[in-house]
Amino acid sequence: MSKPRILLARAVFPEVVDKLRQVAEVQTNPDDAVWSQAELIERLQGKQGVFTTGGDRIDAAVLKACPDLRICANMAVGYNNFDVPAMTAAGVVATNAPDVLTETTADLGFALLMATARRLAESEHYLRAGQWTKWSYDMFAGSDIHGSTLGILGMGRIGQAIARRGAHGFGMRVIYHNRSRLSPELEAQCRAQYVSKSDLLAQSDHLILVLPYSAESHHAVGAAELAQMKSSATLVNIARGGIVDDAALAQALKNRTIAAAGLDVFEEEPKVHPGLLEVPNVVLTPHIGSASLPTRKAMAHLAADNLVAFFTGRPLLTPLNPDPR
Ligand code: DGY
Repeated sequence: MSKPRILLARAVFPEVVDKLRQVAEVQTNPDDAVWSQAELIERLQGKQGVFTTGGDRIDAAVLKACPDLRICANMAVGYNNFDVPAMTAAGVVATNAPDVLTETTADLGFALLMATARRLAESEHYLRAGQWTKWSYDMFAGSDIHGSTLGILGMGRIGQAIARRGAHGFGMRVIYHNRSRLSPELEAQCRAQYVSKSDLLAQSDHLILVLPYSAESHHAVGAAELAQMKSSATLVNIARGGIVDDAALAQALKNRTIAAAGLDVFEEEPKVHPGLLEVPNVVLTPHIGSASLPTRKAMAHLAADNLVAFFTGRPLLTPLNPDPR
């Protein structure tokens, strides 16, 4: 029997390519090019599986043009690049890469929060620019993290990991808002209190966004929400671009309606709204939430293991829709 054919939409660790080669013929993307939809469709012809990252969109048009496709394995926990209902209707399996990145992403959320509140990027640029000539009493004075109120919008696994860091590590009061409330046991573990979205916006000294992107969460934080926040507040987005209205945020940072922001994700990434590049009170990172080497390897292996499981007739590890086999 001939081997199935798998496309790797982006470059990945060589050991992961080797793993896939044991069960399939693999076409790689050695230049790590970001293909247009037409290029992706062209390369998917005759392929039964595809290994994607969060930027590779699989929608109804791709599915229609690629009738051989049977499984799409995403090397990301977020899967807003997949049209899962269309995949289910077409009998195509979707998998993602949850859990393995929870703690690493929570670490980055906290790193961004601390860098933002304590103005690390701004002060480092000042030093590198040779502007530091003397110590002064209020130079780069930011806001405290310990003892402050940490707000979390979206309380899934990563939100809970951030809550534990804040409550147990920094003695923060943790409040959260989520579509569904956590069980009393989980609330106690995270030492987190459920509040309405408007209370979350009004009471947080530091607000971290960790909710999935969907039509519902599009611009969940826009001009109206920013106006409800404290003028001393910091905002951190490690979730997805599009959850924050970047233009409204740039304006709020410019007008100091809020104190500062830390952003790992952007509406048009890798393009960044020019207004965000102009203001000093924002820390910007290029979507590195899960980017520790062990975690990126674990994510890549999990995506590959789903493909291997599918093509060797074993149960999928992290399916997002029913398995039609
Ligand atoms: C995810 O897993 O969704 C991340 O954003 C990818 O790094």
